[in-house]
Amino acid sequence: MIPQLTNSSVCMRDPQRVQEILEAMLKAGSNTVQVISDFDMTLTRFAYNGKRCPTCHNILDNCKLISNDCKEELKELLNTYYPIEIDSSRSIADKLPLMVEWWTKAHELLVQQKIKKDLLAIVVRDSDARLRDGYQLLFDHLYEHKIPLLIFSAGIGDILEEVIRQAGVFHPNVKVISNYMDFDESGVLRAFKGELIHIYNKREGALLNTDHFQELRTRTNVLLLGDSLGDLTMADGVQDMENILKIGFLNDKVDERKQSYLDSYDIVLVKDETLEVPNAIMRYLT
Ligand code: C5P
Ligand code: MG
Repeated sequence: MIPQLTNSSVCMRDPQRVQEILEAMLKAGSNTVQVISDFDMTLTRFAYNGKRCPTCHNILDNCKLISNDCKEELKELLNTYYPIEIDSSRSIADKLPLMVEWWTKAHELLVQQKIKKDLLAIVVRDSDARLRDGYQLLFDHLYEHKIPLLIFSAGIGDILEEVIRQAGVFHPNVKVISNYMDFDESGVLRAFKGELIHIYNKREGALLNTDHFQELRTRTNVLLLGDSLGDLTMADGVQDMENILKIGFLNDKVDERKQSYLDSYDIVLVKDETLEVPNAIMRYLT
């Protein structure tokens, strides 16, 4: 067994099953493995020094390009809809239209702010965005072993890319599926491109990207990293899947949500701000 799986943050419904999946993946070889990861609150930290860390959206919400009035409105949206997002007493079907409402309203507000593309790098540099401890090792290790990493995010692609670029880990094996900004000829935000990706339609997003999964069809063993129950469908586009190991970060409302996370993720990392466990698993598999 991997020693890190005995860390105090690790919870598993069925450790024996985890062991079997890991052994099957090891036997198949690392050239059959791909990693699919969520971004916000999965690759990035939930909190640092007792203070919440921003999501891609929050990086923009709080930046100097946004008027104070708009900041207030965005904050109000967050205060309204985030509690719904993490409410374990409501079903996904019940939450889904409300999540669409949140994303749509927030994107409308952002578009009104005439955000300039060439200032995004500064906004990210000035933000409190923080990748989880061990990120460098994870990204570099995957790159060195030629293992594809798909970052599948309902955040904002342009911001997400900037975060990993500035961290020096946007390697060629990284592919991003997310909401991308659409800028006019003068580089001002005018809309968001394509189909909206929100927290509960990652399955549909995956099925729209058949080319990517077709290219990776020999990679039938998947390591999935997420922090929301909506992230569980990120691998739905994978072809001929043989094994999947699902790792879920449980960051908030731990007591209420622990059982549902244990029921759906193979490994649950409770209030673990590091990538120690995913790194140990990658080391084992390569
Ligand atoms: O990368 P990921 O798929 O995790 O991005 C989605 C996250 O962004 C959600 O967990 C949600 O809390 C957050 N969000 C936000 N502001 C919005 C919409 C979503 O902070 N306007
Ligand atoms: Mg997330």
